[in-house]
Amino acid sequence: MKTAILYASVHHGNTKKVAEAMAETLDADLFDLTKQENADISGYDLIGFASGIYYSNMHKAVRKFAESATFRPDQKVFLVCTCGMDSRDFTKKVRKTLEDKQVEVLDSFRCRGFDTFGPLVLIGGIAKGRPNAEDLARAREYARNLAPAAH
Ligand SMILES: Cc1cc2nc3c(=O)[nH]c(=O)nc-3n(C[C@H](O)[C@H](O)[C@H](O)COP(=O)(O)O)c2cc1C
Repeated sequence: MKTAILYASVHHGNTKKVAEAMAETLDADLFDLTKQENADISGYDLIGFASGIYYSNMHKAVRKFAESATFRPDQKVFLVCTCGMDSRDFTKKVRKTLEDKQVEVLDSFRCRGFDTFGPLVLIGGIAKGRPNAEDLARAREYARNLAPAAH
């Protein structure tokens, strides 16, 4: 099973840490969508989109890619996000974009990520030290469980 993880991680590199842990587990190729917006996903069976949450949504580069990409019917997608406040599933909009295109989207992964956005900087930020070792262990476990689901 050939896997690609396409990520955007612009605030503190929080999502990049999670994406790297998953990529190591899955032996996946990593693409930074903020640097390479036209990644070629045609040769992959499983595709992950990973991003921090900015104004309650995944990064624009991820949203744009999900909207414009063409998927084979047998390709499967998973969504990953890190967010300052783990209050709800912020991947819903991208999931809908993909599902509207008949793409099969597996269960998503999320965890908190260090957040110093706006006035939060005044209190030293929230979710300090996240993702932590426990989050990354959970990310690896999630990635291990994806393998059978993707077949
Ligand atoms: C401009 C901006 C907007 C953000 N909006 C939200 C938000 O709506 N909800 C939330 O929980 N976290 C929000 N955050 C926090 C980030 O989602 C969090 O720090 C995330 O881990 C950043 O990931 P990254 O370091 O991979 O970019 C925001 C951060 C920034 C910089």
